[in-house]
Amino acid sequence: MRWWWWDVINPKDEHARSVLTLSVLLLSVVWYVTMVRKCHKGRSRSPPGPPGLPLLGNLLSLNPDLHIHFAELSRRYGPIFKLQLGNKLAVVVSSPSLAKEVLRDHDMVFANHDVPAVGRLISYGGCNIVSSPHGPMWRMLRRVCVQEMLSKASIDAVYALRRREVRGTVGRLYGNAGMPVLVGEEMFSMVMNVITSMLWGGTLEGEERSGVGAEFQKVVGEITELLGKPNVSDLFPVLAPLDLQGMERKMKGLFLRFDGIFQSIIDRRLRMNREDEEGKCCSSKGSKDFLQFLLKIKEEGDAETPLTMAHLKALLMDMVVGGTETTSNTLEWAMAHMINKPDTMRKARDELDAVVGTDSIVEESHVPKLHYLGAVMKEVLRLHPALPLLVPHCPSLTCTVGGYTVPKGARVFVNVWAIHRDPLTWANPSEFDPERFITATNKWDYGGSDFRYFPFGSGRRICAGIPMADRMVMYALASLLHSFEWRLPDGGELNLSEKFGMVLKKAEPLIAVPTPRLSGPEFYLE
Ligand code: HEM
Ligand SMILES: *[C@@H]1O[C@H](CO)[C@@H](O)[C@H](O)[C@H]1NC(C)=O
Ligand SMILES: *[C@@H]1O[C@H](CO)[C@@H](O)[C@H](O)[C@H]1NC(C)=O
Repeated sequence: MRWWWWDVINPKDEHARSVLTLSVLLLSVVWYVTMVRKCHKGRSRSPPGPPGLPLLGNLLSLNPDLHIHFAELSRRYGPIFKLQLGNKLAVVVSSPSLAKEVLRDHDMVFANHDVPAVGRLISYGGCNIVSSPHGPMWRMLRRVCVQEMLSKASIDAVYALRRREVRGTVGRLYGNAGMPVLVGEEMFSMVMNVITSMLWGGTLEGEERSGVGAEFQKVVGEITELLGKPNVSDLFPVLAPLDLQGMERKMKGLFLRFDGIFQSIIDRRLRMNREDEEGKCCSSKGSKDFLQFLLKIKEEGDAETPLTMAHLKALLMDMVVGGTETTSNTLEWAMAHMINKPDTMRKARDELDAVVGTDSIVEESHVPKLHYLGAVMKEVLRLHPALPLLVPHCPSLTCTVGGYTVPKGARVFVNVWAIHRDPLTWANPSEFDPERFITATNKWDYGGSDFRYFPFGSGRRICAGIPMADRMVMYALASLLHSFEWRLPDGGELNLSEKFGMVLKKAEPLIAVPTPRLSGPEFYLE
């Protein structure tokens, strides 16, 4: 059998030639294989990451404080690393330059949010802004909210609502002066009342209004807690029918309670509108709130992107869930840090006394002059960005970040919490020091243009409620500090630990005692 390519004249050479032929073949195979592998590697290099178990991946080793755990892993594996969470590939990005690649350079590709299944359930199947994929529907929903509710002009127009709630809270605290207060809870119900009044203002009054507020408060707390929990069914769809953690059942219950409240408010408003039309009554006259506006848009029925009842309710849900805990936790953290560092409290108060005076009430018009307090808010959001991993983003195409391939459909976390504590950018990063924002030569702001500081995200999916959050936090904080001295209850201790959830919380709720400091009761009346 002749299986070599050289003619053999002398049969004795046969052996040597077959060896030569084999060696050439072998060498070319080795060369081919290494070339192909190299090429392949150059084109698609997967990010590094901790080795995981088959099937479970890295699920078992996840520490519940995800943002801290991710920061530790990035010290080990670098500014981009991957984790296998069951079926889901997660990619975590933790440096300013890679955050910029994701949120600016590849803005279009990453303009989708990857919302966990729990989130879809309460958003009427993904009908809200947060979970809508980037496209005409999302654009319409976002435009409607920003124009009619969250723009500077719409917010200015409802100062009276904010003032009523903030003064109400100050008045109530005055009534219980000297008693310990759960600061976070007070702030939450204040923010909730402001937002629900903006949403459907005149529909509910008095007792009924505070009743609905209290109900919402409970439901929202439970929802954000569930949203923060890893859902086994989400990661292993095979196990979903078993609902091992009972999450689906719990969420359905919460959802039904929510939907019941929305439905009864909408029904009532529609009835009021009908009575108006028939000239029977004047009940909803002057109702220029968000619900009225949404109902009008729904009636008009845009042909391309019609607003359905599900969208309408999902938008209400977005505002109620997205706007409340984020804002009230920021306020709670601000109070805790200032109580912990009395000289920051003193500086903020000196500024208030200079701008507002001690025989006057804080108004929102004072806020632009409160530079130190502005720095306090920035510093609080640096240390405790309300969404420490933003909302996970999801690339619509496979693309390259930091030289590594991020496949289409991955769940991409941007660890803004870790970036805000990077010692390369921030001196003494874990120290609460508002001064750093005063002396900085940089103009740090909330616009997301600098990827070393972006507590509200950046790019197309940047928070839609920045002006509202800014207004509420500053005005409420100014009022609390101007009206009262704050101290810990006797024997109380301050613990500044964080607890990860969909929204970053204070692990131990702040309990503090307010003492009035203004000269007369007239400054505490509503
Ligand atoms: C201190 C307060 C707040 C913080 C720190 C905050 C932060 C954020 C962040 C980080 C995102 C996600 C950005 C991304 O995925 O890249 C977001 C999205 C969003 N926020 Fe806020 N937020 C706050 C208050 C509010 C308020 C008061 C509202 C409205 C009432 C609001 C409405 C929204 C909405 C609708 C989105 C989704 C935007 C979209 O998907 O296009 N937020 N927020
Ligand atoms: C968990 O994930 C499953 C499957 O994706 C989903 O059907 C279920 O609703 C989720 N659980 C909750 C509480 O939403
Ligand atoms: C602070 O609270 C956290 C969480 O509740 C706890 O683990 C930690 O031990 C506390 N630290 C101190 C000093 O009490």
